[in-house]
Amino acid sequence: MEVVIQPGSAQIASLVADAVERLLTETPDAVLGLATGSSPLAVYDELVRRHEAGRISFARARAFLLDEYVGLPADHPERYRNVIEKAFTGRVDLPSEHVQGPDGSAQDVPAACAAYEEAIAAAGGVDLQLLGIGSDGHIAFNEPGSSLASRTRIKTLTRQTRQDNARFFGGDVDAVPHHCLTQGLATIMSARHLVLLATGSAKAEAVHQLVEGPVSAMWPATVMQHHPHATVLLDGAAASRL
Ligand code: GLP
Repeated sequence: MEVVIQPGSAQIASLVADAVERLLTETPDAVLGLATGSSPLAVYDELVRRHEAGRISFARARAFLLDEYVGLPADHPERYRNVIEKAFTGRVDLPSEHVQGPDGSAQDVPAACAAYEEAIAAAGGVDLQLLGIGSDGHIAFNEPGSSLASRTRIKTLTRQTRQDNARFFGGDVDAVPHHCLTQGLATIMSARHLVLLATGSAKAEAVHQLVEGPVSAMWPATVMQHHPHATVLLDGAAASRL
């Protein structure tokens, strides 16, 4: 695992955008794995800037989301499909039919999860997967205790994660859904390049476990230690316990 410490999110965003630009220059129909949360926002802004400057086209790219809340109405602003469109995919030339996420309103949840796995496989797998990390060490919504061999499935969110994400729901933890559909740890590990971003001291313990802890389902991100091509980009605060 490659660990890169930078002064702040602007420098991190620039390095990640370089990697995406290189990938799309070599492989215009590359498959991107997109993450929600606040960590990748600076990356999306930088990619939009480079797109507007004519440096990157996403016209032939495809994108898969890591996860989705269960039960939010289709037009809810915090539905991850809507979040990513507003933050990134709707601001570039990535056709909306090329963006897929787990179906959080499916009646038949196991079938929807299996279909999502099949869609990723049919696209040839993810070339570059962006990841944030939860303060409890989750990636996507694989909470502590998630099987390292897990695939896309329904999960219950922990109180900690619902509290962390309440800021997106007007500060009201009760408005945060209790369940989600999420790519599993093995799904994420199938991507060819994992790029995890973390900034701020609230992530320092999770980052310490990710980089220096034993691989354990109690800190799900530690599974990345087994990935042949994983890059972790940190600011000084997130790296402060290394
Ligand atoms: C959510 C998302 C994760 C994300 C995490 C951290 O729980 N499902 O994919 O990594 O939040 O979010 P943030 O980047 O806002 O700290």
